[in-house]
Amino acid sequence: MRKNVFLAISLGVAVLAATPFVNGFDGGQRVQAAAFRDRWGAEDLRVLASLRLSQLPAAPTDPSNAVENSRAAVELGKRLFNDARFSRNQAVSCASCHDPQKQFQDGLPLSRGIGVGSRRAMPIVGSGHSPWLFWDGRKDSLWSQALGPLEDEVEHGGNRANFTHLMQAHYRPAYEAVFRALPDLSEVPQHARPTGTPAEKAAWNAMSDRARTDVNRVFANMGKAIAAYEKTLVHGETRFDRYVEATVAGNPSGQQLLTPQEVNGLRLFLGKGQCVSCHNGPLFTDQHFHNTGVPLRHPTNPDRGRAPAIARVLKDEFNCLGPFSDATTEQCQELQFIAADDPTMEAAFKTPGLRGVAMRPPYMHAGQFASLEEVIAHYVKAPRSAVGHSELAHGGAGHTERQPIRLSAQDIKDLAAFLGTLSGPITEAPVR
Ligand code: HEC
Ligand code: HEC
Repeated sequence: MRKNVFLAISLGVAVLAATPFVNGFDGGQRVQAAAFRDRWGAEDLRVLASLRLSQLPAAPTDPSNAVENSRAAVELGKRLFNDARFSRNQAVSCASCHDPQKQFQDGLPLSRGIGVGSRRAMPIVGSGHSPWLFWDGRKDSLWSQALGPLEDEVEHGGNRANFTHLMQAHYRPAYEAVFRALPDLSEVPQHARPTGTPAEKAAWNAMSDRARTDVNRVFANMGKAIAAYEKTLVHGETRFDRYVEATVAGNPSGQQLLTPQEVNGLRLFLGKGQCVSCHNGPLFTDQHFHNTGVPLRHPTNPDRGRAPAIARVLKDEFNCLGPFSDATTEQCQELQFIAADDPTMEAAFKTPGLRGVAMRPPYMHAGQFASLEEVIAHYVKAPRSAVGHSELAHGGAGHTERQPIRLSAQDIKDLAAFLGTLSGPITEAPVR
């Protein structure tokens, strides 16, 4: 297959002699152009240009979080993100599973907190661009998302009444610099939440409405501070970005940034592999949900993905329309126009972004694949889904939505090599 690369290049040179250039400079500059190794057609060039990091707009503002641009909120959020006191065993923080040293993931197929979960941790960088959070999108904002793990049985395993007391004991000045004064907690029990152990539930039900609202507000505000911090985490430029910048600018020397194998992989990504139909834009995700027939982790208790999550986000008390949101009803369009009954959402999962992907195996919503080659081999195999209907499955009962993806063993390696060019640094952007 390596031969094909050279063939493609020599063909490129042959075409080069015959046609004017599309790479941003005119056909008169033949001599300079001869140094241009990789030839891209106008359409490919347009798609390539759209994948550059420089094309990523700032993450949209979240009208449901009034403090997301506050420097004090970012600082508070960063401390909370790393504080293991907000867990039942005093040992789990957000950073346990979202380790800054591991692309904000944990490297495990299934995350481990107080116990072992049923899905893989997600990279949180860039998630401010995502209208729906989690693999199934059961949360509609970053701040509301953050509240989930804090009370989840197998993650932090904590409870909101206790968190409020911890905020008072350890964070009072920092909290009050961002939000209103902490409420009087004298009537708030040490441990209480609406779900959880019978004792926690009973304690929650025994509280006055007012005390419950006070606790919920402090809990929501913790999420808002954490979200403000998460929004500062941004991707840095990769080798791929520099290659495309050079190519779009018509600078032939910049093309040396990728090897011929990586360039071949990139061609497959745009063309035969059809990857760019879902992994598109500067974050390489359409921010949508798809059933791609990934094998089930628990066949007897299948993960139905997006399907049941729609009802959950609609009735979540911490959603955009809820009492702790800072948004007006009109600002919650996404929630209001959610398609509540969409059969294609059965066992559908959010398309993950691919920046940094080579640095954070294993892959898929439950870590089903150990390597990028295994992921790509899955796309080629395109099995039918055990639950719902895979968008990629072919060859069965007339269910073909897409052309089958046909890639050789060498293509799979080249495509994986290309994905390796999407790795770059993650930085904390300064707050305005
Ligand atoms: C025990 C490991 C664990 C802990 C602790 C944990 N997470 Fe996660 N995180 C996960 C897993 C697993 C998922 C995907 C879960 C799912 O889809 O159901 C996830 C998903 C997310 C997402 C969604 C990203 C996206 O693009 O949709 C964000 C954001 C996030 N976590 C932030 C946090 C924050 C903030 C905390 C601390 C309050 C936290 N996590 C604590 C494991 C963990
Ligand atoms: C129909 C939309 C679609 C197409 C086409 C598609 N993907 Fe995906 N991709 C997804 C979804 C959805 C997931 C997550 C699936 C899951 O976890 O169940 C995913 C996951 C991945 C992952 C794992 C990332 C991670 O963090 O776990 C990689 C790598 C990947 N895709 C690469 C590719 C490549 C390469 C191609 C082309 C051969 C491709 N994808 C084609 C939708 C798509």
